[in-house]
Amino acid sequence: MGGRLLLPGLLLFPPLISGWTISNCSVTEGSRLHLVSHFSLCGLDSRLPLLAVCSGVTNVTKALEAVPQGVEGLCLRGSPPVLPADAFSRFPGLKALGLTLYLTQILPGAFRGLGQLQRLSFIQLPVKDLFLPPDALGNLSSLQYLAFSGVCLDGNSGVRLPPNLRRLSVTLSCLKDMGQLADIFPDLVLGSSSGDAWTLETLDLSSNRWLKMASPGGLRGLKLGTLNLDHTKMKAAALMGLGLRRLDALSVTYTDTAELPAGTVAHFELQELNLGQGQMRIEHIALEALASCESLKSLSLKGSGLMDLPPGFLAALPRLRRLNLSGNKLRSAVLCPNETGAVSGLRALDLSSNELRSLAPDTFSCLSHLRELLLQTNQLVWLEGQVFQGLRRLEMLDLSNNPLEALGKGWLAPLPALTTLNLLKTHIVLSPAWDFWGLESLHDLRLPLRSGPSGTALSLPTRLTSLELHAVPGGELWELASPVFPALQNLTLNGWGLQLGTQKVPKIFPALRQLSLFGSSLEGLCSPDTPSVFLWQLPRLQYLRVQGDGHGPRPCCITGLPSLQELTLQRLLSRAQPRRVQLEELVGELPRLQVLHVARTGLETLSAVAFQGLGSLQVLVLDWEAGLVLDGSLQEHSPQMPQYVYVLRSSLACQCANAWVEPWLEGSPRTYVHIASAQLCQPEAGVHPKQRLFPFLWSHCPRTLELGLFLGSSALLLLLLSWPLLQEARNSWLLYLQALFRAWLQDLRGPKGEGKRFLYDVFVSHCRQDQAWVVQELLPALEGRRGLRLCLPERDFEPGKDVADNVVESMANSQVTLCVLSGQALHTPRCRLELRLATSLLLAAPRPPLLLLVFLERVSRHQLPRYHRLARLLRRGDYCVWPKEEEGKDDFWAWLGSRLE
Ligand SMILES: *[C@@H]1O[C@H](CO)[C@@H](O)[C@H](O)[C@H]1NC(C)=O
Ligand SMILES: *[C@@H]1O[C@H](CO)[C@@H](O)[C@H](O)[C@H]1NC(C)=O
Ligand SMILES: *[C@@H]1O[C@H](CO)[C@@H](O)[C@H](O)[C@H]1NC(C)=O
Ligand SMILES: *[C@@H]1O[C@H](CO)[C@@H](O)[C@H](O)[C@H]1NC(C)=O
Ligand SMILES: *[C@@H]1O[C@H](CO)[C@@H](O)[C@H](O)[C@H]1NC(C)=O
Ligand SMILES: *[C@@H]1O[C@H](CO)[C@@H](O)[C@H](O)[C@H]1NC(C)=O
Repeated sequence: MGGRLLLPGLLLFPPLISGWTISNCSVTEGSRLHLVSHFSLCGLDSRLPLLAVCSGVTNVTKALEAVPQGVEGLCLRGSPPVLPADAFSRFPGLKALGLTLYLTQILPGAFRGLGQLQRLSFIQLPVKDLFLPPDALGNLSSLQYLAFSGVCLDGNSGVRLPPNLRRLSVTLSCLKDMGQLADIFPDLVLGSSSGDAWTLETLDLSSNRWLKMASPGGLRGLKLGTLNLDHTKMKAAALMGLGLRRLDALSVTYTDTAELPAGTVAHFELQELNLGQGQMRIEHIALEALASCESLKSLSLKGSGLMDLPPGFLAALPRLRRLNLSGNKLRSAVLCPNETGAVSGLRALDLSSNELRSLAPDTFSCLSHLRELLLQTNQLVWLEGQVFQGLRRLEMLDLSNNPLEALGKGWLAPLPALTTLNLLKTHIVLSPAWDFWGLESLHDLRLPLRSGPSGTALSLPTRLTSLELHAVPGGELWELASPVFPALQNLTLNGWGLQLGTQKVPKIFPALRQLSLFGSSLEGLCSPDTPSVFLWQLPRLQYLRVQGDGHGPRPCCITGLPSLQELTLQRLLSRAQPRRVQLEELVGELPRLQVLHVARTGLETLSAVAFQGLGSLQVLVLDWEAGLVLDGSLQEHSPQMPQYVYVLRSSLACQCANAWVEPWLEGSPRTYVHIASAQLCQPEAGVHPKQRLFPFLWSHCPRTLELGLFLGSSALLLLLLSWPLLQEARNSWLLYLQALFRAWLQDLRGPKGEGKRFLYDVFVSHCRQDQAWVVQELLPALEGRRGLRLCLPERDFEPGKDVADNVVESMANSQVTLCVLSGQALHTPRCRLELRLATSLLLAAPRPPLLLLVFLERVSRHQLPRYHRLARLLRRGDYCVWPKEEEGKDDFWAWLGSRLE
């Protein structure tokens, strides 16, 4: 009996996620997080495999019923009054939890069982009180990051911290004194029960606009890596009295700190200091103040109104590696003393967004260790040939957004290590005289493309891996000097500035993986003679982004890219001549495409035809598309639809063609469909108020659909079954398929209706786990008391016969199939298969016999195998839950009896 192993091949069946999707929750995979913006607020991590966001939550328990158990990141938004005990006990694997809830109460044990939780955030704005039971967090043994934003914690005291907490963030709260933290979380300081004080990598207290005090000794013993006090009223000097045992990095931007807090730097021997952006500008730095800042390795003085730097600035900071002077008023940069000698160890220097007009030849002469130099957004018009002398290790140079017209001869020669150069938004005219491409290591180049002297070709280094070109409109097209860029992987073209013999593109860029085309560059995609022909047949291209400017014509259908995995099409609708399209007009044969992101393309209809060439599609995002029609053909196509469909900032058309959508969404078998905004109908313009779309369609559209759907279902189900079967191509599968067809044909040929005699009354499908119930409860009730003939696999299967044949034959020979289900059974692949067989046989049969479901415990709908037909059966009421209490059992047997009659 124990050997009743049905179709062992099935154990290889991939555990796809299934779900019903019209709930308030939506689900995505971490790697797709960037595609769905509404996920962004909760600080969920893209490294987690499966994430869910639920909004409009009024009852946490109820909302979570729709969330698949495997999620590792969860974000809840809404205003439930309480967070009940064991709220998340169904999700023991949860790693990140974000709660944007207007909670008034958290019951003890609310977070019980979350032993793997690493990040927990509470976000509620406007600021509101939150009371935490002292033990609410203490048992979260894996928690490393805890954040409160917009939460007033004043009423709390003695809250235990999770033992492994490394990062604590209390922002936008009503905190006034840093010392209050020790009352709320006594673990942080010395003298608490735990003995030693805490060590935190970061303590983020930014954006607390009432925070201005640090009571002496308030955080005694606490050891801190980084302390963030941005956007507060704290003075850096006040920190010295707090009693901190260690502090490595301090950020006090957007505060009233108006001078270098030299005393604080010296007191803690700070390694990193971020200043600036406050109302009071620093403007000048005294050399004496710098004398006590020797320990600094990183200094940021962004937006401090600095007009100059004291001479000897770098010499006073011997350990400095990163210096950020962005957003000041520097007109010249005097960093290196005249007499060469002292060499600074600086690695990164940011002088962007200043008022630099020119650079003296020896500006960077003492920076021989510099790797990164940022000079963008200044007033530089001209650079002398000598200015980069000495920057032998420089790898990254950004000169973009400067009115640069000319560069001295040989200006790049002193930069042998340069890998990345950005000259975008400059006025530079490329000149063939530049021998600037002798640079061996340059691989990432960004250039503006003005029309050049006619007859000359654009000479670019052929070793580039990444190239970005911005063409100035109306210029002459450049011809490329080199016939091939063998290493180029990433190409971005903004505007059309190149004369690419279109047939040659794959030959010029044989290694291209990422291509982004903006604005008028789209014209180049299609053949000028036959505008519907897509020309860029790039065999290795994996990522393609095409973004129009709302003026030009829409490009031709993108097709025939064998390796393409991600495609983004944006702003392709022409403002002057808006023409709506079908998806199949935009995309064609893209066999490896996994992600398709469509925004403002004028998409009108989405039908099954569009997916024919997109066999690998997993995620479809429709954004900013108005009046969408989801064609009924999608329903029959369901099994091959992408797993995730997001309809964001888009509306469905108020047309009967969309009437089928709601029932389909409710039971969509395999696809998570998320429709973001509330869908409304304006029945007759101006007269009636807007109504909700689906109820409106439901009441106004004729319901001729149901019958057609049912007739179509047999063929669909056979297709549906054979698809994974053929993929596995195992003997048992083929046997099963044969058996299925045989059963079906038998039924077709056999005598119709009353003539047929059944061997059994009820075939009972159940799992070994539930056998006790079948033997002790079901058997006596049905065979004993009612005298029905049951077919139990253990007892009645013909020995020696193939198991699949046995199942199929027994089902065909029984008047009723009864599936016994429990949560445990649904986790066993074999049981899921039996259920699947039963439902498919049932629905594939021309004259459907009866299927009854008995749940031994309450099972959430999305745990069921993903047949939406099943959901429909469930709604018909052909199921019953076995009651736990004695008194309900009579009702149960009465129900079963009435169904079996
Ligand atoms: C879903 O959201 C709506 C409002 O957005 C709310 O009225 C409803 O109660 C929510 N459902 C659940 C189960 O929380
Ligand atoms: C929340 O929903 C659950 C299950 O639907 C129910 O048992 C519980 O009473 C509800 N809680 C509140 C506070 O309404
Ligand atoms: C924390 O764990 C301890 C020991 O396992 C247990 O006694 C206590 O009830 C738990 N507290 C909470 C709030 O879950
Ligand atoms: C300097 O600060 C600006 C503004 O916050 C930032 O964008 C830039 O990355 C910083 N520069 C360096 C080298 O860290
Ligand atoms: C460097 O030399 C120039 C003139 O040669 C002088 O004006 C300037 O003060 C000197 N700077 C330093 C830091 O000595
Ligand atoms: C490709 O280039 C674009 C523009 O230069 C850049 O934004 C993008 O990050 C690059 N991609 C990779 C993978 O380097």
